[in-house]
Amino acid sequence: GPVAVIAGGLSHERDVSLASGRNLVRELRAVGVDAEAYDFDRNLLHTLEQHKVVAAVPALHGQFGEDGEIQTLLELIDLPYVGSHSRACRVAYDKGSARELLRRAGLPVPQSVGLSAQTFRDIGAPALMEHVMHRLGERVVVKPTRCGSALGVTGVDGLAALPSALVTAYSYGEHALVERFHDGTDVSVVCVETDEGVQALTPVAVEYEKGHQFDFAARYTAEFVSFSRPELPEELIEELGRTAVEAHRVLGLRDVSRSDFIVSPDGSYVVLEVAITPGTTETSVMPYACTLSGTSLGQVTLDSVRRVLR
Ligand code: DAL
Repeated sequence: GPVAVIAGGLSHERDVSLASGRNLVRELRAVGVDAEAYDFDRNLLHTLEQHKVVAAVPALHGQFGEDGEIQTLLELIDLPYVGSHSRACRVAYDKGSARELLRRAGLPVPQSVGLSAQTFRDIGAPALMEHVMHRLGERVVVKPTRCGSALGVTGVDGLAALPSALVTAYSYGEHALVERFHDGTDVSVVCVETDEGVQALTPVAVEYEKGHQFDFAARYTAEFVSFSRPELPEELIEELGRTAVEAHRVLGLRDVSRSDFIVSPDGSYVVLEVAITPGTTETSVMPYACTLSGTSLGQVTLDSVRRVLR
């Protein structure tokens, strides 16, 4: 039977997921895999059974895809799947809990304050806002704790803009993270699992058009974003790779992950996020990272499929 790429679903990132899924199917077919894309709808389990699917590759982003829900379903029907286990997803998907684990493991993460919508409503007074900014500085980034693709993310410069940024973040969920803004280069490192263990692919520098750093469109509009091999000292490149592997391990992830860093001009860096199901659209970091590393998205995914089928 075929390998099922599960895409779509009901999250805010549905369209991105459909694009990720299409590209994954194309790449898997290019390396000789019988792959089909199926939507995550109410018929999914029936569809998987009907088509005698042998393994699944979730290409679902956001809610139900990276929070452990689809993984739990696949575990229930005992279908081998690529990617992290439901238990790891539950913890790693929440930016608050993930960050706490990384921090405790000694990895550099931005200083941040979690603020629920309830707290904001109850004591959303200027005094609280001031307290937050006093701790983090005037330049902060506000983001929903459970979302991806920069949805609901706002860069804030000064106290006055903080409340509306929080309201934006709360439109995606009950919890928001306010973090210190780090200026520097965005560098993403994809980790893949091989028979030799977890390996970091070549890091990718991600450059957004001016003014588009925090928006959704920039993630998927080729004109707004460009990728390159980062112009950083070799030592630092290697350290970012090691740190990404460490983040992957600390969060208990499997097969694949993408750690996003900000690297400051002085060479210091922070881990912003670790994506559980990195985007695999034609304009996403992951396929680019695979190519830079002399492999392909299809090949690394095929390797994962082989491993979960063993
Ligand atoms: N959330 C998007 C799909 C990503 O991490 O690439």
